[in-house]
Amino acid sequence: MRAFPFVIFFLAAGTLPAQHGYTLADIEAGGRLYRMTCSVCHGPDGDFIPGIDFGHGRFRRATDDESIESIIIKGIPNTGMPSNDVTEQQAEQIVAYLRSLPAAGKAMTSGGNAARGKAVFEGKGGCRNCHRVKGVGSRMAPDLTDIGVLRRVAELEQSIVDPDAEILPENRFVKVVTKDGTEVTGRLLNIDTLTLQMMDSQEKLRFFEKANLREYSLVKKSPMPSFKGRLTAEELADLVSYLVSLKGI
Ligand code: HEC
Ligand code: HEC
Repeated sequence: MRAFPFVIFFLAAGTLPAQHGYTLADIEAGGRLYRMTCSVCHGPDGDFIPGIDFGHGRFRRATDDESIESIIIKGIPNTGMPSNDVTEQQAEQIVAYLRSLPAAGKAMTSGGNAARGKAVFEGKGGCRNCHRVKGVGSRMAPDLTDIGVLRRVAELEQSIVDPDAEILPENRFVKVVTKDGTEVTGRLLNIDTLTLQMMDSQEKLRFFEKANLREYSLVKKSPMPSFKGRLTAEELADLVSYLVSLKGI
């Protein structure tokens, strides 16, 4: 019996099929070049520029690997994409790296050390004052036990250095002022026409009749402090590696 090799191509709308075989060494060299020259604009996961998402093979202009290489070297005139001082071989390696991204997917790491990141999380970062991981820590903020499955490296990094940038609907906080002037802020659990429920900073469930409130409003700023400047770049990378490693049990 002779094994018969099958080759199946999946062509999703709007994505480019991979065209070459690349070696692991190419991919690694390309990854280094990418992080040095491209990730400032395109982001660590390649999805910072609207309409372009390297991690999912989504391009607006490039039609194949050759055109990506030519864009890398020459840039795109009259746009924010500059020409780059790389050789043809280096451009190929970057393409190899970009092609490796969909498979690497969420596994792409921040290059940090998860064990050291855990120590930052539990110590200097004080993250457990608000967050819970595997049953330890406060319930005030979202449980991060499986955050590594839910979010990507770039999103995690942003949550830590710029918490106000994006607050998910399920993480909304609300501030109420009762008729006697008492202010209570907490995580919004439910709101309907007559009542409002939240979890306050002592993790207590609080129930309010709207009729008894002077006012209530969603909190636009995240209760989470920004850690920009409070952690070193290395501590941040370690912390993100730790968060990426949290995948439930
Ligand atoms: C200074 C910021 C900047 C840097 C650095 C940069 N890019 Fe870009 N790149 C852009 C912008 C902005 C666009 C979108 C241009 C447009 O179409 O309007 C773009 C477009 C592209 C495209 C075309 C995508 C498509 O939709 O077809 C590719 C491929 C690309 N960049 C790859 C790279 C690679 C690889 C590097 C590193 C060698 C890099 N870029 C460095 C800003 C940058
Ligand atoms: C004072 C309380 C507080 C502290 C301290 C705190 N956080 Fe947060 N964090 C929050 C709150 C509240 C949210 C939800 C609102 C938001 O997304 O900003 C949040 C959101 C997050 C998210 C996004 C969760 C999601 O579902 O996407 C991550 C990741 C995160 N925090 C990580 C950390 C890390 C790591 C630390 C320690 C360096 C930390 N937090 C310290 C309160 C805190």
